[in-house]
Amino acid sequence: LYFSRYQLPLLESFISNPQSHAQAAADPILSGGPFIAIPPSRLAEVVQLRDRSVHLYEANKKLSDELIAFSTRLERECGGLSLSPWYEQLPETLRPYVELVYDYQHRPSLRFIEPLLYRSPLYRKDAQSIRLFGMKRDAERPYFLNTPRLPSDDDSDIMATVPFDSDASKALFAMDALPIPFGELRERLSLGDRQAATLESLVEPVREHEEMALNVYTYLGHATVLVRWKGTTILLDPVVAAKPALGGEGRYSFGDLPERIDFVAITHIHHDHFALETLARLASRIGTLLVPRAQGFLYGDVSLKYIAHHCNIANVVEMDALDVVPFNDGEIIAIPFLGEHSDLAHSKNAYAVRTGTQQAIFAADSDCLNEAMYEKIRDSIGKVHTLFIGTEHIGGPLSWNCGPLLPGRPTREQEKTRRSHGCDADRALTMSKILGVQRVCSYAMGLEPWLRCLLGAAVSPESPQMREAHKLIATAEERGYDARLLHGLCGFD
Ligand SMILES: [Fe+2]
Repeated sequence: LYFSRYQLPLLESFISNPQSHAQAAADPILSGGPFIAIPPSRLAEVVQLRDRSVHLYEANKKLSDELIAFSTRLERECGGLSLSPWYEQLPETLRPYVELVYDYQHRPSLRFIEPLLYRSPLYRKDAQSIRLFGMKRDAERPYFLNTPRLPSDDDSDIMATVPFDSDASKALFAMDALPIPFGELRERLSLGDRQAATLESLVEPVREHEEMALNVYTYLGHATVLVRWKGTTILLDPVVAAKPALGGEGRYSFGDLPERIDFVAITHIHHDHFALETLARLASRIGTLLVPRAQGFLYGDVSLKYIAHHCNIANVVEMDALDVVPFNDGEIIAIPFLGEHSDLAHSKNAYAVRTGTQQAIFAADSDCLNEAMYEKIRDSIGKVHTLFIGTEHIGGPLSWNCGPLLPGRPTREQEKTRRSHGCDADRALTMSKILGVQRVCSYAMGLEPWLRCLLGAAVSPESPQMREAHKLIATAEERGYDARLLHGLCGFD
């Protein structure tokens, strides 16, 4: 759906008018928009990429087109009657993979049995590749949802065509913890002489692992927090950045993280929380990956578990609300997460992490939409000491993230009102009060420069979202909380 209904039209648009894309892409304010940041001089390569992609994903595009057409027809014609006769009407592309179901209002839906799709020719492992490149500055990485990466013309990067779950990928990504000789890596990635020379320039000698400071909470930027307690390590929503050659803002990178991370907990599928690039590189160090359970009723509610399984993370636990994972003198509890997905029932969890007698909630982009529920949560899990909460209260419109999933174009009012947003300052304060917290941490605001390629236009101090963050912190201080606006590296207990 994303290929045929977002990326392909975007490529077509670039091909018909590369100049307008270049102009828009040069405007930093538009960096997350539907504009490709490739110089018009490379038009011929984009045409080639379009043609190759159309050929490669022909069956996937057919499935996408037929899914939209069939679900629209079903909605119009089924009349709330038995869906059994409709199985015969299912296009062959869809038939092996879907169950036809109703909601209680007799609205039909196609429920995909996802593991079957991963075992079908539609899952194109042969199209998977890994790009390795040196990076001088964070800012040089273009926004990842709109700009395809073309091979460099000076051999400065490597495109290795290897499936994500292959032994070669596994060996490459495990190298922070399990280094292998250069020649072996070259062989596993099947690189020729020129690419091997590039690889040689990118690898670093093995260095001694240095233990990070030993706080209970170490903030690594955006929504990434490392929790350490009595020998257990927990990493929430990891987005870990490489260190650019020219330095840049200070950060903990892969080599600085603990050699073993017992639990990684993911709040939701948005790419600044479920960052595959980071997860693939941490895979060999992760004990258990905790993800929200996908219900699968909506085809866009894809399973994070299956994605992780196909990226070399075998031990994945899907958590429902109030499920508990215990560890030494602590536990991780899945907490309901309201808001953020434009009112679509796509899976998400916040997490409470208890360390001894102290409990913190990592609420990410949650919105305090239902005070009665937060009261119930407080009654269920007990006192919460610290709340980590974002104030991205505006968010992208419905079609920004979910447009390709929707058979019809949303109305202007739908676009305007149904956004991917979390709390404003007032609702974050209400949540803090209900949960009875003593400390409020503003986080997940995309402030760090390495978030730019994931989130597009940077948040500035003048952004309304940051005004809300400052308002949250100032008001929380007035009300006697320990209030912290997290940015960059910091640690506390
Ligand atoms: Fe989000």
